[in-house]
Amino acid sequence: MAEKFDELHSSASADSVRWLYGEYSRQDLMEMDPVCLRALFRERVHHTIEVEIYPILVGDKEPTPIFGTQAQICWEALEARGFPLDDPDLQWGKRYLELAAKIRAGEKVSIDEPLPQAFNADEMAVVKKLIWDRHSIRDWVADKPVPDEMLEQIMEAGRAAPNGCNLNVVRFAVIKEAEEMKMVWSDIPTPAERCTVIVICYDKAIYETVGHDRLVPHNMMLDCAAAGDHMCLMAHALGLGAVWLTCTDKTAARFKKKYGLPENIEPAMHLAIGWPSVASIKSLRMPLKDMMLTRGN
Ligand SMILES: Cc1cc2nc3c(=O)[nH]c(=O)nc-3n(C[C@H](O)[C@H](O)[C@H](O)COP(=O)(O)O)c2cc1C
Repeated sequence: MAEKFDELHSSASADSVRWLYGEYSRQDLMEMDPVCLRALFRERVHHTIEVEIYPILVGDKEPTPIFGTQAQICWEALEARGFPLDDPDLQWGKRYLELAAKIRAGEKVSIDEPLPQAFNADEMAVVKKLIWDRHSIRDWVADKPVPDEMLEQIMEAGRAAPNGCNLNVVRFAVIKEAEEMKMVWSDIPTPAERCTVIVICYDKAIYETVGHDRLVPHNMMLDCAAAGDHMCLMAHALGLGAVWLTCTDKTAARFKKKYGLPENIEPAMHLAIGWPSVASIKSLRMPLKDMMLTRGN
């Protein structure tokens, strides 16, 4: 796979975007769905600049004359189509475009960002408390809805999660009304009328645009899982209780139809969130030594 990416980045012309299974001309980009174009821009920045720049920065590798130009072409299409360009994901990409342009011009550049620092003891105590105290909650206080600001904080935590190739495929649908819960409820005996459910979905059109649907389709589900985990942690920190609820294919299909999701959006998982009413015996894990694998040969 690494060779495939290398070949893609080095052999592309300076005036088109090569994707895994084809090539997009500038005209293709002018006609592409805006959400997909924006994702393609982030992906091109990620694969053709962000992950390639380090050996160039430390002087081990010479940049090709077209270093960064594929992402530049996507940016120019976004500009030409008059899309607003001030959102953080686009501004992040623009910073890499500027670095790549300087590198092509032969300038010496550096990334002036702070390196991560180890947490101090107080900070570490909070991190450990968060990670080890979180647990699933399956019953909630009646008539005490989760405030919208908290739901937003929870989804913001999901937004911060890592995601494959920075493609940002995760989407959220918030279900608050007990009547609406019928769309997501299956055979799980959790009180629907006492919680809010966030259905975590993914946009598969984005993967089809960059060819990842054929290469790493499971990454869309993994993105949803990473977001879901961040969201459970935030819910716990807010004093709320959350639980993942398995979403079968049947439940997902029913929700998709009844909620009226477009063809490209697929439900992946459900998070039920509310104010905890019944404590559980916190489930504990088997020891780390029992999780360790050893070589079979
Ligand atoms: C992929 C996944 C699916 C889950 N599905 C359900 C479910 O359908 N119903 C449920 O009550 N809990 C569900 N859970 C929660 C797990 O049962 C729970 O995380 C596990 O027992 C460990 O307990 P803890 O979350 O309290 O640490 C699910 C968790 C994951 C990660």
